[in-house]
Amino acid sequence: MLIRDVVEADLPAITDIRNDAILTTTSLWTYYPSDVANRAAFLADQRAKGYAFLAAVEGDTVLGYASFGDFRPHDGYRLTVEHSVYVHKDHHRKGIARALMLPLMDRARNIGKHVMIGALDATNEASIALHEKLGFAVTGRLPEVGFKFDRFLDLVFVQKVLK
Ligand SMILES: CC(C)(COP(=O)(O)OP(=O)(O)OC[C@H]1O[C@@H](n2cnc3c(N)ncnc32)[C@H](O)[C@@H]1OP(=O)(O)O)[C@@H](O)C(=O)NCCC(=O)NCCS
Repeated sequence: MLIRDVVEADLPAITDIRNDAILTTTSLWTYYPSDVANRAAFLADQRAKGYAFLAAVEGDTVLGYASFGDFRPHDGYRLTVEHSVYVHKDHHRKGIARALMLPLMDRARNIGKHVMIGALDATNEASIALHEKLGFAVTGRLPEVGFKFDRFLDLVFVQKVLK
């Protein structure tokens, strides 16, 4: 497995992984699937900002991806980023998220970011466990701020200072 920057050829597989998470999980509080053009615009934006968008690949197969962006759009938050990490459902528990997160944190650190935040569905035990294993602490919970699949969802913040 190789971790590298996303290239255009990865975008159909990334779109499929993301759409599966949108349609079948509460890891992402989006209701409707998106298309490759949407991910291409995201890739262009990441490149323009110098923000990471990483893929885990084995040969031509994309196993997962991770990225970070601004936490909030105000000047005072400029040293804090919010990330996301997604692994194809056929490849969970093989160390892929961990392999993506370590260089993702390095990339944020290397451009001077200070804090990395994950905003997770409180029922997403896999993601909470992953982040705790990576040294993130649970620092907040916002009850019932999300609504998907006919139920309210609690948001849990996990964060790590990037020393
Ligand atoms: C959360 C997610 C990214 C984890 O990816 P993964 O590649 O399976 O995770 P890893 O194999 O790197 O796991 C690393 C560690 O995290 C923890 N972990 C991961 N999945 C877990 C699970 N289902 N239950 C308990 N602990 C888990 C374990 O400590 C694991 O180490 P171990 O396998 O040596 O015990 C994956 O389940 C996923 O893509 N879920 C859907 C999308 C999502 O929830 N993304 C996060 C929101 S930002």
